[in-house]
Amino acid sequence: MTVFYHQKYHNDLREIKMKTVHQLLQSKGSYVISVPSDTTVYDALLIMAEKQIGAVAVMDGEHLAGIFSERDYAREVVLKGRTSKTTPVKDIMSSKVITVALDNTVEDCMNLITNKRIRHLPVLHNGKVTGILSIGDLVKETIAEQQLLIQQLESYIQS
Ligand SMILES: NC(=O)c1ccc[n+]([C@@H]2O[C@H](COP(=O)([O-])OP(=O)(O)OC[C@H]3O[C@@H](n4cnc5c(N)ncnc54)[C@H](O)[C@@H]3O)[C@@H](O)[C@H]2O)c1
Repeated sequence: MTVFYHQKYHNDLREIKMKTVHQLLQSKGSYVISVPSDTTVYDALLIMAEKQIGAVAVMDGEHLAGIFSERDYAREVVLKGRTSKTTPVKDIMSSKVITVALDNTVEDCMNLITNKRIRHLPVLHNGKVTGILSIGDLVKETIAEQQLLIQQLESYIQS
């Protein structure tokens, strides 16, 4: 009987850890806010302020050319003496974009944002950008998973 309980909870705990990017996008939404690469930094910042987001995908047609974030603005405009109304995002965006796939797990994403020191992960499916996950999305999900894990461990201990 003890073995049964161990196996049952082991399986439950594995399930908690296995949430995928696909599942997360289903609850968050798979929209992507993007700008063309010749957009000025100023106009990109206006969109980011209006949408209350910290980064935009930079798209040339359907091709993901880069990602432009508040951090790029802080480091590459203000500190380098550029002006936001005359600088296109393509000049300062991060062009080596780290992306994830629909079957990656939340844990994979947390490892990436931590190890690569990034805050946004575009999601690629069949070569197209189908969503974007932020550090906030991933932290929120990780906390929810951990709360579920604690609840399951508590009921395991009490059983
Ligand atoms: N309560 C929630 O559900 C929730 C979710 C995410 C973030 N937050 C909070 O918002 C604050 C800022 O969040 P952040 O630093 O994670 O990043 P952020 O401000 O860039 O992202 C906020 C939300 O917008 C989405 N988003 C960002 N850029 C996008 C884009 N280009 N296209 C489509 N969606 C985009 C993100 O996925 C996230 O859901 C934090 O305080 C965080 O805790 C809350």
